[in-house]
Amino acid sequence: MSAGGFLYAGGWLSSEKLTPVRIADRFEEVHGKHAGFRRNHAKGVCVSGYFTSNGSGTSVSKASVFRPGRTPVIGRFSLSGGKPQATDANDTIRGLGLVFALSNGEQWRTALINIPVFPDNTVQGFYDRLLASKPVPGTGQPDPQKMAEFLAKHPETARAQKIIKTHPPTSGFDDSTFNSLNAFLATNETGVTVPVRWSLVPAQPARPGNTTKPADENYLFDSLIVQLSAHPLQWNLVLTVGEPDDPTDDPTVPWPESRQKITAGTLTIDSVQTEGVGNARDVNFDPLVLPDGISPSDDPLLSARSAVYSQSFTRRSSEPKQPSAVDVSKVQQ
Ligand code: HEM
Repeated sequence: MSAGGFLYAGGWLSSEKLTPVRIADRFEEVHGKHAGFRRNHAKGVCVSGYFTSNGSGTSVSKASVFRPGRTPVIGRFSLSGGKPQATDANDTIRGLGLVFALSNGEQWRTALINIPVFPDNTVQGFYDRLLASKPVPGTGQPDPQKMAEFLAKHPETARAQKIIKTHPPTSGFDDSTFNSLNAFLATNETGVTVPVRWSLVPAQPARPGNTTKPADENYLFDSLIVQLSAHPLQWNLVLTVGEPDDPTDDPTVPWPESRQKITAGTLTIDSVQTEGVGNARDVNFDPLVLPDGISPSDDPLLSARSAVYSQSFTRRSSEPKQPSAVDVSKVQQ
C-alpha cells in the first residue's frame, strides 16, 4: 500500500487536515531545522546484534521470526527531540529502533520508547502538544500557561502523564524497558488473531536514575558505548496479549497487568557504531513494515507515524550530512 493509502486508511488526513509535511514542519518549528538529521529522535547511535527466538511467540504469530532460531538485527538507540546536539538528560525519552532481517527476506521494523504509555491518542493531540511543549527562551521550559491550556483540553494526556510519572527513568539505555505502546494484531498458523503490544525488558538489573546531572553531555550514550565495548547487552522480547475489551486504538491507556505475557526470545546487542553511511543512520524505522503474521491495529497513530517518518526520511536523505554528536571512537579511546 502506498503512503497515501495509509493516510486514507488512517483517516487522519481528511478529518483533521494534518499532513506529514505539516507535522515535519512543526518539528522544525519547535526544535529548529538540522540538515541531515531525523526530525525527531535526532541524537542517536547505531547498533547491531541478533534475536534468539525460543519458539513461544508462534502460539500467537506465524511470523517466522518467532520460530526457534536466530535473526540478525540492526538498531539505533536515540533520545527524543529534534536537536542532534542536545545534552543528554534523564527525563528525555529514550528510543530504540530495530530492524529484524528475517531469513525469508521479510523485515520487521519497530521503534520503541522507555515510557509505559504514550501521551497522545490522536494525531491532532500530538501536533498540538508539540507546540505547547516548545521551550520558552530564557527558562528553557515549556510555557506553563500553554501546557495547562493543552492539558485542560486533553484529559487523556493528563492521565497518561500521571502514569508516566510513576515509572521514573532508570540510569541508562542498558537498564531501560522499551515499549511498542501502539497495539498490533498477531495471527497464528491456525488463523486466530489477537491484539498484542510488545516490550523489550532488560536482562541487565535496573539501577535508579541520576538525580544530579552528570557533567558529560553525552553521558547516557557514552555509558552505553563503554558497556557494549566490554560485553553484549540483552533484552527479553515480551509479547503482551490483549483481551477483547482492551483498547487497540489508544496508546494512552495501559492494558491490565494481568494480561498474558509471552517471552518470545532474547535480543542480544553486541556491536555499536557511530552513525554513518549504510548503518542504521540511513534506515527509516517505519512501524508499519511488518512480517506476515503481524499486522497494524486500528490505532490512528500508526499510519500517521509511518507517513511522518517517511517525510522525515525523505528530507534528511536529500540533505548534506553532519557528524553525529555521539562518536563511538572517541569514547573507546
Ligand atoms: C507509540 C508512539 C511512538 C513511539 C513508540 C515512537 C518512537 C520513535 C523512535 C524510537 C524513533 C527513533 C527511531 C530511529 O532511531 O530512527 C522515532 C522517530 C521519529 N518519530 Fe516517533 N514514536 C511514536 C510516535 C510518534 C508520532 C505520533 C509521531 C508524529 C506523528 C512521531 C514522529 C517521529 C519522527 C518524525 C521520527 C524521525 C523519523 C526518521 O527520520 O527516521 N513519532 N519515534
